[in-house]
Amino acid sequence: MSATVLIGSQWGDEGKGKITDVLAEKADCVVRYQGGSNAGHTVEVADEKFKLHLIPSGILYPNTLCIVGNGVVVDMGKVIEELESLQARGIDTSNLRISLKAPVVMPYHKKIDELEDRESHIGTTKRGIGPTYADKINRIGIRICDLLQEPEQLEKQFKKLVECKNRIIEKIYNEEGFDYRIIMQEALEQVNQLKPYLADTSFLIYESIKQGKKVLFEGAQGTLLDIDHGTYPYVTSSHPISGGACVGAGIGPTQISKVLGVAKAYTTRVGEGPFPTELMDQTGDLLREKGAEFGTTTGRPRRCGWLDTVILRYATRVNGMTDMAITKLDVLDGFEKLKICVAYRYKDKLLYEFPETLSILEQCVPEYIEMPGWQEDISSITRFEDLPANAKAYLNKIEEITGVKQCLIAVGAKRSQTIVNCDLFE
Ligand code: GDP
Ligand code: IMO
Ligand code: MG
Repeated sequence: MSATVLIGSQWGDEGKGKITDVLAEKADCVVRYQGGSNAGHTVEVADEKFKLHLIPSGILYPNTLCIVGNGVVVDMGKVIEELESLQARGIDTSNLRISLKAPVVMPYHKKIDELEDRESHIGTTKRGIGPTYADKINRIGIRICDLLQEPEQLEKQFKKLVECKNRIIEKIYNEEGFDYRIIMQEALEQVNQLKPYLADTSFLIYESIKQGKKVLFEGAQGTLLDIDHGTYPYVTSSHPISGGACVGAGIGPTQISKVLGVAKAYTTRVGEGPFPTELMDQTGDLLREKGAEFGTTTGRPRRCGWLDTVILRYATRVNGMTDMAITKLDVLDGFEKLKICVAYRYKDKLLYEFPETLSILEQCVPEYIEMPGWQEDISSITRFEDLPANAKAYLNKIEEITGVKQCLIAVGAKRSQTIVNCDLFE
């Protein structure tokens, strides 16, 4: 049995897209199980750069089945845009399958996301993610399969729903509402275009696993953005952690054999919320510049800071992590000294576990150890043994603190810039 869940160990943008693409060479099936077009996963092959939001990062391999599971909130317009852009670049997209059960992101969700964020200041991506998940939990959302029912029934559902959303948009926010007929018409046109891709994806995944195929679940966002286990309320509205793969793909936990945590060699965050190791100085600016830390989806500058192993140990726990991939190690080239946060000082106590409440986290001051940096350019190294001694020591320290073996080390954005230490599908 070879089902592996790949998750983000920090606040997203760890390089999950790149690692998924590397592993997809051997995978038979890559599955997205949560999130939506808030995700921005970058894959670089030779001189080509692909930015994927809803389509799994395995799509560049023509024989890999790529699945958008029931747990993903689907903006159908964005899927069509992504498909067209991939096809225009000569990518075969016929292996994409989208769950009939996936909730649909509607224009009013995006509008409400924008309006609510003005009040809540979470700094969402404005892709309608929270409002779409809220409707799903509230049992009033429209799923892809709902769009295939009889038009009279559908019209009634749309009319009622859009009128209700318009009351919120017009009465609370004093903004212009939507015409339900236009929204419905657009949704019907989009679902019609996507029809060849729609499927019972839980069944497809189950069959793949049963046949001994290699299945990779591609998490979006990261552990600390999880709605239950992240830095609530500064989180996304889904379950990026490994447990989310079961619900969001429709498989049982007994099917999963490994959990790969992707961790950036330092820490970044986009949007608001606490970030203990954030650097508001020149070092933070240097990390942003060297790491090109600007959001893939929104273009916003990412907040940058030192590596935080309190977070990595927490991610190890809540994801049941068996393996780790460290990315962007090359960004640390040239630093004289590197700091690693090993605990938090809270009032007169040292905390080794990630705090449960935001009020404590906000008062935590990182306790650092210092490691010597390396001056060499590591971006073309392909074997662990060839890394500078101080880079190896930095990685070994992370391994020692987390207790999780490092399966892959990324030393550049390109597919080829990857040190592979073990076969995850063995
Ligand atoms: P994701 O959301 O986790 O898939 O990550 P993003 O794609 O949003 O952000 C990661 C960024 O870092 C992208 O621009 C990648 O191309 C780039 N990247 C990934 N791995 C590496 C690496 O090892 N070194 C460098 N320099 N860039 C990397
Ligand atoms: P990938 O998959 C980094 C952040 C937003 C905001 C919070 C809630 O590329 O790692 P949302 O629009 O989801 O309601 O926003 O979550 N966020 C991400 N940060 N990477 C992502 O995805 C993110 N997706 C959402 O910035 O703080
Ligand atoms: Mg991203």
